[in-house]
Amino acid sequence: MELKIAVLAGDGIGPEIIEQAVKVSDAVAKKFNHRITWIPGLTGAAAIDAVGDPYPDKTHEICLNADAVLFGAVGHPKYDNDPSAKIRPEQGLLKMRKKLGLYANLRPTFTFPDLIDKSPLKRERIEGTDLIFLRELTGGIYFGEKGRLDGGNTAYDTCTYTRKEIKRIAKKGFELAMKRSKKLCCVDKANVLESSRLWRETVQIMEKDYPEVEVSYEFVDAVAMRLVQWPNSYDVLITENLFGDILTDEASVISGSMGLMPSASIGIETSLFEPIHGSYPQAEGKNIANPLATVLSAAMMFEDAFGLKKEAKCIRDAVNKSLSKGYVTEDLSNGGNSYKTSEVGDWLVSNILILK
Ligand code: IPM
Ligand code: MN
Repeated sequence: MELKIAVLAGDGIGPEIIEQAVKVSDAVAKKFNHRITWIPGLTGAAAIDAVGDPYPDKTHEICLNADAVLFGAVGHPKYDNDPSAKIRPEQGLLKMRKKLGLYANLRPTFTFPDLIDKSPLKRERIEGTDLIFLRELTGGIYFGEKGRLDGGNTAYDTCTYTRKEIKRIAKKGFELAMKRSKKLCCVDKANVLESSRLWRETVQIMEKDYPEVEVSYEFVDAVAMRLVQWPNSYDVLITENLFGDILTDEASVISGSMGLMPSASIGIETSLFEPIHGSYPQAEGKNIANPLATVLSAAMMFEDAFGLKKEAKCIRDAVNKSLSKGYVTEDLSNGGNSYKTSEVGDWLVSNILILK
């Protein structure tokens, strides 16, 4: 297969971790006779510095013309500490999500047998956890009307959802549940919010079309609690943008390291794959960041964007092997031997090329 992939490395550790995912993808492509053309694009603080826009039109063109987008991370401390900054890297991310129509953000949380004791939660609570959030990504309070009144002394943000937007993401949720354990949890705050009542009403109607799927409706506060109590009781969860933002950070701790979790954003124009962690500016240029979340995002890309399951499995097998053999970066080494970002990438590459 000929694959054209846009690669947006972004800020902080973005370029270092992306480099490993590119190497690993190229190795898999070689092994399975595919050809990848990588088309780099600017984004985040790097793009602000270069052209004054965190998601320039040129980058958008590159994404539109690609079969998929591999994304690193954006964000820079100089913006975090300056609330008055007019242009911020995160705006680029939101603009990109909206313009590419990336409405369904898939964030899995699973445990790795070799790392189970790295989790702050007890082994017996988390063993067997394998859940996935579908976070709505282009609506809700992130994109609703917002502003200031009263000479700047009153501020408001509004959460708006249309039935169409809810149906679109819920459909993905039902389809995913059908492929997995046929369990779907609709997360909302329908006891308080009107937009949540529309979510619940819409999902309740759709439920009739998927009689095999067992749907539960739970309030977001209760989910936040049960997620750390009994994470392995969940499978597919669907939720609106802000709830999903918060709950997926919470869920990421279960696996033991934020440096491990990949994500996919399914879009109207194209799909995008990225680690769920941020740009980790403290580690920039040190070659110490864990590249595995990005490498696993590339695996998701092979499977979800191109339907290349064997290729995805090959990457996941190599990652599991690096974990069981302790070929890991310092965040996972427990004070034992640790390896550099690029060394982990090299190890994965040789493993993929050697394995039959
Ligand atoms: C995420 C991030 C973003 C979000 C920020 C950086 C705008 O936290 O992808 O979860 O809130 O969506
Ligand atoms: Mn977030």
